[in-house]
Amino acid sequence: MKKILLALLLLFTFSVFAADIGIVLPTKDEPRWVQDETRFKDALKDTDYSVEVLFSQSSPARERENVEALIAKGIKVLIICPHDAVAAAATVEMAQKAGVKVISYDRLILNTNAVDYFVTFDSVEVGRAQGRFLLENTYGASNPLYIYAGALSDNNSFLFFQGAWEVLQPRIASGTFRLINSSEALKQKAKSTLTREEMAGIIGQITTNWDMTVARSKAEDNLTRSKKTDKGTVFILAPNDGTARSIADAFSKDRDIKQYYVTGQDAEKASIQYVIDGRQSMSVFKDVRLLVKDSINLAQMLLQGKTPTTTASYSNGTKNVPAIQSEIQVVTKDNVKKVLIDSGYYKESDFRW
Ligand code: GAL
Repeated sequence: MKKILLALLLLFTFSVFAADIGIVLPTKDEPRWVQDETRFKDALKDTDYSVEVLFSQSSPARERENVEALIAKGIKVLIICPHDAVAAAATVEMAQKAGVKVISYDRLILNTNAVDYFVTFDSVEVGRAQGRFLLENTYGASNPLYIYAGALSDNNSFLFFQGAWEVLQPRIASGTFRLINSSEALKQKAKSTLTREEMAGIIGQITTNWDMTVARSKAEDNLTRSKKTDKGTVFILAPNDGTARSIADAFSKDRDIKQYYVTGQDAEKASIQYVIDGRQSMSVFKDVRLLVKDSINLAQMLLQGKTPTTTASYSNGTKNVPAIQSEIQVVTKDNVKKVLIDSGYYKESDFRW
C-alpha cells in the first residue's frame, strides 16, 4: 500500500513539475517578446504538452540559469530566443549535452553545432521593406537620410541592415539620398555587398542597442550636430517600433524638421497608434502566431521522434541550420485595418481611430 502511494506521489510530482517544452525569451521589457509569450500561451491552451516560459531580462547569465532550470525539470525541447547570439552558444551546448533538442527562435544562435533548427521571419526582407518604403517616398535628389540599427549582439540586426543597405546603397551612391549621420556607412557607399566586419563597423556607430533611451539620445545628438540644410523633409531608417517611436519623438521636436518618414518593425500596439496618428510612417508586421505555430509543430514532431521538413537554411558560422521561415507584411495608415484588424490580430477597440 505504502509503495503504491509513494509511486502515485512520485507520478503526481513528476507530472506537475515535468515540462516537455521549455521556452526562453530575451526580455519582458520589450513589447515584442511579451507578444510572443501571449501567443505561445494562446496556442498551447488546448494541448497536452506542459510548457514553461522564462525571460532572461537581457542577461546571458540569467539565460543560462533559465536553461539549467528547464533541463532540471526534464524538458525534451528548448525553444530559445537568445539575448546575445554568441554568448548563448555555450548555453545551448549544455542543453544538447543533456539530450535536449534546440530550436533557435527568431534570432539565430551563432558559432555552435548545438542548434537543431531555426524558426524565423524573413529578416533580410524586413530590411528591404524598410529601405523600399523610404525610397518610394523620396522626391528628386539629395534627400537627407538618417540611419539607425539594432544591437550588435543580435544577428538579426545584421540581416535587417543587409536588406536595407541592398535597397539604399545604390541610391546613396546615385545621390537620391544624402546620408547624414554615419561616417562609417559613407566609407562603404560604393559597395553594394558588405562583409560582416564592414557591417559591424556601421552598426557599431548607429546602434540603438534595441533600447528606446539610447535611440532617443542618439537621434537628439545627430540633430544637434546636423546643419539646417540636412533637415527639412528627412528619411529615417529606424530598425524597430520601440526605437522608431523615440526617434520620431526626437525628430518631431526639432523646429527645422518639416516632415519625416520613419520606418519601424513589429506592429507593436503603441506604434500602430503612432501609425494611425501619422507619427510613425510604417511598421513591418511579423505575425507572431505563425512563428509560434511553426515552433510548436516542430517541437511536437521532435517529441514524437519525427523528422520535420524545413524551407530554408541559415549559416550560423559553424553549421547550416535548417530553418522554417515566415513572410512579413508592411503596415501603413492605408492598410492597417485590413492587415491587423480584419486578420483578427488586434481588436479595433485597441486603438483610437
Ligand atoms: C529582433 C527581432 C525584432 C525586434 C528586436 C528587438 O531580433 O527580430 O522583432 O523586436 O529584436 O527586440
